[in-house]
Amino acid sequence: MTITKAAAVGGGVIGAGWVARLLLNGIDVSIFDPDPEASRKVSEVMKGARRAYKRMLPDGLPKEGKLTFAKTIAEAVTDADLIQESVPERLDLKHKVLAEIDLHAPANAIVGSSTSGIKPSDMQVAMKKHPERLVVAHPFNPVYLLPIVEIVGGAQTFPEAIEVAKEIYASIGMKPVVIRKEIEAFVGDRLLEAAWREALWLIKDGICSVEELDDIMRYGFGLRWAQMGMFQVYRVAGGEAGMRHFMAQFGPCLKWPWTKLMDVPEFNDELVDLIASQSDDQSAQWSIRELEKIRDENLVGIMDVLSKTNKGKGWGAGALHKDYVKRLGKLAAAKKPVSKAAAKAKAAKPVKKKAKKA
Ligand SMILES: NC(=O)c1ccc[n+]([C@@H]2O[C@H](COP(=O)([O-])OP(=O)(O)OC[C@H]3O[C@@H](n4cnc5c(N)ncnc54)[C@H](O)[C@@H]3O)[C@@H](O)[C@H]2O)c1
Repeated sequence: MTITKAAAVGGGVIGAGWVARLLLNGIDVSIFDPDPEASRKVSEVMKGARRAYKRMLPDGLPKEGKLTFAKTIAEAVTDADLIQESVPERLDLKHKVLAEIDLHAPANAIVGSSTSGIKPSDMQVAMKKHPERLVVAHPFNPVYLLPIVEIVGGAQTFPEAIEVAKEIYASIGMKPVVIRKEIEAFVGDRLLEAAWREALWLIKDGICSVEELDDIMRYGFGLRWAQMGMFQVYRVAGGEAGMRHFMAQFGPCLKWPWTKLMDVPEFNDELVDLIASQSDDQSAQWSIRELEKIRDENLVGIMDVLSKTNKGKGWGAGALHKDYVKRLGKLAAAKKPVSKAAAKAKAAKPVKKKAKKA
């Protein structure tokens, strides 16, 4: 399924990343963000996203979708096939914004929330007309490059909405993974939260510095994770005897005092100062924009390499990247925006079919 128009409600780090991915796929986007600086911030992100996509498509990009700044949520969401909510992570604000989106969006539009951890059931109670079309669509930063999007349905979400959402996000080069049970923080952030807690302890206890911890990740298991994830990596680590051997060897460590996962460091000014000052020592020589640039260059490079391995079929994110670049290349060659092609395609089918729990 292709879409012709999307709306972004909230255009900060994540909202602007969504805007960039959508526009670079030729989809028109209408955005609402009350921040007077929103337009400048979005154009900064667009600059970086265009630069990254030019690395992926040196022969030229598809025609970009049109970006419009709306004065209200109502104006932004009219006629949208997809509405992506990316306002700050506060339940009261999500309720307010989703209620308004729900009031004005077309009945068959999908509403995706970028929330990092709020359960969709807790958000959709604010949607009085069509709560059945709300899904959590949780991306990772930078949204225009990282393909993963965690899709989570709530108690009122229709299975059809999840199916349509999967198709829409896949149509803009993403890898939707549907989370089977609704939990706070879903899967990605649950894992990251565990690692983050441990990292805070390690710095607080003076075991290593911020830079040393990052080095241990990026010179080591971070490189493995980018291409095989946790379980496939450990299967290989088990040697010829595989996963069972690996588990037999490392299973007992779970009972040893290897982690402090049940325990949270006190989050106070002292901890913030410790981490922030070490982070300055590590990275103050680069601006955030410079770091974004090198991050994007590295990500495109990694995905490019992964698109060529496995006898040329690509591996993991690389296999998807290969298809995405090919599709965008075809669009660019056709010299017409995807929205025109998509206009001929079937309009988004209504999601309101049966009142079944997702
Ligand atoms: N930053 C990340 O790495 C990340 C990753 C994945 C998901 N998320 C989630 O994405 C959402 C947005 O996070 P962010 O990091 O982009 O935050 P952000 O602070 O960078 O951006 C939030 C934007 O929302 C705007 N906003 C505030 N009130 C609004 C309203 N009533 N209507 C429309 N816009 C409004 C703000 O002006 C701001 O531009 C959160 O739910 C967050 O949990 C963040």
